Amino acid sequence: MSTIIGFNCGVHDASVSLLQNNEVKAVYTEERFSCFKQRGDTITQPLTQLLKDFDIDLNNVDMFATTTSLVINETNDIYEHHRERVKFYPHHLCHAIGALLFSKFEDDTMVLTLDAGDFNIQALKFGDRLMDGDVDKTVKFHAKPWHDRYQNNCYCVFGSVSVYRNGTLRTIKEFNLNFGNLYLMGCHTMYAHGIRGTNIEGKLMGLSSQGKYNHDLYTLYRSLCRFDAATESFESLSQCAQPGFANGWLHHKIINLGLQHDVRDCAYNLQKALQDGVSELVQFYKNKLNTRRICLSGGIFANVKVNQLINENFGFDEIFVMPAMSDEGISLGAALTAYYTPNGITDAYTVHPIKVPDHVYLGKGYTDEEIDSFIKSQCKQYQPFDHSVLTKELQSGKIVGVFRGRSEYGPRALGNRSILVDPSNRDTFSVLNHRLQRNEIMPFAPAILSERVDEILHCTHSKRSAQFMTTCYNVRSEWINKIPAVINVYDNTCRPQIVTSSSNVWLHTVLNNYNDATGIPVLLNTSFNTHGYPIINEPSQAYDELRNNVVDIVVIGDYIVYA
Ligand SMILES: [Fe+2]
Repeated sequence: MSTIIGFNCGVHDASVSLLQNNEVKAVYTEERFSCFKQRGDTITQPLTQLLKDFDIDLNNVDMFATTTSLVINETNDIYEHHRERVKFYPHHLCHAIGALLFSKFEDDTMVLTLDAGDFNIQALKFGDRLMDGDVDKTVKFHAKPWHDRYQNNCYCVFGSVSVYRNGTLRTIKEFNLNFGNLYLMGCHTMYAHGIRGTNIEGKLMGLSSQGKYNHDLYTLYRSLCRFDAATESFESLSQCAQPGFANGWLHHKIINLGLQHDVRDCAYNLQKALQDGVSELVQFYKNKLNTRRICLSGGIFANVKVNQLINENFGFDEIFVMPAMSDEGISLGAALTAYYTPNGITDAYTVHPIKVPDHVYLGKGYTDEEIDSFIKSQCKQYQPFDHSVLTKELQSGKIVGVFRGRSEYGPRALGNRSILVDPSNRDTFSVLNHRLQRNEIMPFAPAILSERVDEILHCTHSKRSAQFMTTCYNVRSEWINKIPAVINVYDNTCRPQIVTSSSNVWLHTVLNNYNDATGIPVLLNTSFNTHGYPIINEPSQAYDELRNNVVDIVVIGDYIVYA
């Protein structure tokens, strides 16, 4: 038996993954256990739980795989007692291999990774100073380089382009700048306008569809970061592209100009600058590599509008966005990279057979006995689950929480930790926002029965990523007024989960029954959590949300539970 544990721990989105006997078994994220959204400074709870659930002794793990994350306050057993079995891999290689293997694309694929920068490399960059001994020993440990090019020529990596052909993945370009500073400036601008709270970049994207073009804003934003085809690198107007940039004349100029305009126009022009920049980049490498498929990973591709643009405008037969596109994807990426690169870091990698699931239900689950015990000891009013009862409750407009199976890996709830609601009521957006204490601007998303999706959406290009809710589509005009609760009313798009019987048989049955009863093969599907908190992780949290009037009824395992 071979056992590889991948982990990502440092700034944000800490997680632990398990690869056993050439099969991806689990990924547990820290946030779900500590109830601290995107927590990154520890992996203690998910690691402990994963070892317990899969009966693993750390002494029997063959390899621990990670990137060189800067670890803060991290004192877990891996660092303390198993350092000799820890292997480090480049952050963007982990993004790339994770996306490629999850896509199951077999050949002729471009893999593009873009994020806010591999902050890990900064640990290395300042390694000499850190080695002086005035910092925590774990940082010294992390400053260990994995490859000569980084050892001798330290820099921060913000993105990469790789090509996968004839069974071999080859990284052809790494970038030391990209669009991360646009994100950063976008967030600063939103903040200056009083748009606060979590997921500011999501709010920016949501507001962008309500704004209009402005030459001054657009010109300034575009100058922040531009792809230069002649040098195949990014150029920036100034030092503001540096990570952590917070001051300086350009920063003030950006904020001041932003404050002279409507926040919706700032958002529109920021989003347009990002889309136009990504378009230049994708077009350049599409021309150069001429691949039929593209895989995307890194935080930039949390932007579903960018993903829609890539899907519809560059002639790719298929696109795939890593479901855990941000750094919560890194632990699995590191484990897969460890498996994929038995000969270490080279310039090209040959595929090795590995069982990667075609779903993301890889998080914490509970046995039937555990669910039974919880229901019978804690819940007052419940009955065995019955599809016809659920259909009637949904038809009557009830807000239904769902807690069944294993939780989803990545930011999207796809039917196992979801809230389901009738999509036909226009008022649902404000009602549900109130019940979830949500101040999001982005609309809610739909789960759609795969058999009828072409009637509802303009799916002229790839649907592959829609299994995971990672791209938008335009809604056909005849459906806009039928499902208003799940449509962006400003541009008539939606971010669907297309549900097949193989991707989630339970949710597929729910949608089928709802379709039979109403003629609408769609349900609103949002994540089961209140605003600012991670998706719930325990049956007791589902029951708490019921008692707190967040949902009207809740499905827990094979039960329907009432307040
Ligand atoms: Fe990243």
